[in-house]
Amino acid sequence: MAQFRFRDLAWCTCTHSGAIMESMGANSNKDWWRDATVYQIYPRSFADANGDGIGDIPGIDSRVEYLASLGIDAVWLSPFYPSQLADGGYDVDNYRDVDHRLGSLTDFDRLVAHLHDAGLRIVIDIVPNHTGSNHPWFRQALAEGPGSPARDRYIFRDPVGPPPGAPPSDWQSIFGGPAWEQVADGQYYLHYYAKEQPDLNWANPEVRADFVTTLRFWADRGVDGFRIDVAHGLTKDLSADPLPSQAEIDRIGPGPDHPMWDRDEVHEIYAEWRAVFNSYDPPRSGIGEVWAATAGRRARYATPAGLGQAFNFDLLYAPFEAAAFRSTVERNLAQAALSGSTSTWVLSNHDVVRHPTRYSQPQLADPDRVREQAQAWIASGGRVPHAEPALGAARARAATLFMLALPGAAYLYQGEELGLPEVIDIAPQHRQDPAFFRSAGKEIGRDGARVPLPWTRSGPSFGFGPGISHIPQPDWYAEMSVEAQAGEPASSLAMYRQALKLRHLLSEGEDLTWLDPPDDAATHFRRSPTWSCVTNFASHPVPRPPGRLLMASGPLAGREEIPPATTLWLAG
Ligand code: BGC
Repeated sequence: MAQFRFRDLAWCTCTHSGAIMESMGANSNKDWWRDATVYQIYPRSFADANGDGIGDIPGIDSRVEYLASLGIDAVWLSPFYPSQLADGGYDVDNYRDVDHRLGSLTDFDRLVAHLHDAGLRIVIDIVPNHTGSNHPWFRQALAEGPGSPARDRYIFRDPVGPPPGAPPSDWQSIFGGPAWEQVADGQYYLHYYAKEQPDLNWANPEVRADFVTTLRFWADRGVDGFRIDVAHGLTKDLSADPLPSQAEIDRIGPGPDHPMWDRDEVHEIYAEWRAVFNSYDPPRSGIGEVWAATAGRRARYATPAGLGQAFNFDLLYAPFEAAAFRSTVERNLAQAALSGSTSTWVLSNHDVVRHPTRYSQPQLADPDRVREQAQAWIASGGRVPHAEPALGAARARAATLFMLALPGAAYLYQGEELGLPEVIDIAPQHRQDPAFFRSAGKEIGRDGARVPLPWTRSGPSFGFGPGISHIPQPDWYAEMSVEAQAGEPASSLAMYRQALKLRHLLSEGEDLTWLDPPDDAATHFRRSPTWSCVTNFASHPVPRPPGRLLMASGPLAGREEIPPATTLWLAG
């Protein structure tokens, strides 16, 4: 894959004073999460202190200064709990400990203290829909057999015929293959994800009580907020006999009539959690990973009586087009208003193809196909002739500056500040994602977004750690490393740092006003009398509106025009 080199660019966008940047620290009020920039760390791939090839908590601790230098407000740690790693740590075997390969509770406490000292908050992932299959509860459920209280913590069912011994329904796991797994005594258990991730029974009071204990355990250690995995999935109604088929539940869609997704009762859980969050000073924050059918249904998770905020992934799925970006923002600001929360914006995370790679694809009229298209490109080994990595990189920077000018919270994913594209050519023996294995390689999976970060130009794992990394890194990581970009004003890293600091400085309230764009293929919005954001989504230059240039996402050819795939922040 042809790589883009920062050194080849001769543009500098820095127009603000260092003194301004010095004056900014973390947002100190209890509503910090409303407009925070949160940086997601996938711990196993961030930094490895002990050289075993797996990123760890001391590794993150050693990079606190770097994290603070980005200008973010908080870090969100994906799971770091004991796990057999059937799904990258989202198969948790003990919710109140640190995986010994990643460190100890003492290391965790030290990290929290160092982040707080640096003015950063910490959000952790809670995975309540399922445990790992090595969790003591699940082992006990297997040992104690049908009808036991231990089985009632999960969703076990007898086989249903015909034919004799068949699973209770034809439901499919999200990672491929059946969602029911049979155990030695003949019963089946439900696992909507991998078979190592048995779904919990949230009608069981012991399950509910235990998660409250877990929330308090971490909140007492100083954790500032929680990201709730599969937040829409906890409460289930499997009382129908026979159970509806997969085709029927697909037709019903998430909502009160779906047996698993976005049922009304789930909010009782979050009301209880809110009381826990609010019993702390300052209250702990919550953000749900919610997939709901309508804006109104998603908004229910984000109310002050519930989790407080819910992820919206619409920008991530939007094609790089003015109309799509604008309508996505309009729709989501209206949705946020329904709940009294703010919107959240995401372009990349550990589950999706990194945005420079997505944007290197030709645009499609149907936004739902954007992911499929990137997936097809990855599956082909990157050999699709029309993929344009340099264009993808330019669009990614433009989309990032667009996103960072929006009101609400922005969620960044580790490595996006380096402009990292997806690593497409991971050999099958190095793949880890259950989606790859459960689909016999048809689904390439998410490993390409989870390759350990490059910190230096050289070394056995480009500074990730003293040893080699748990997923091999490509050679071109050297020139995308933090070391290669440090001090380069045209680098992606410099753009993120500058944008995050200006965002802190310029953000005023939660309003956004659309201005007449200079072209149909552009958007222009104002956040304050002194800050507007104009993006050219086209492949041709468009006229530049008046206003002093604060920063740009790419090189400018002159003062009159905005080049293709470029965002400008203007004073005025
Ligand atoms: C996480 C995924 C994970 C799944 C199952 C998702 O929300 O983001 O990475 O595979 O939940 O826990």
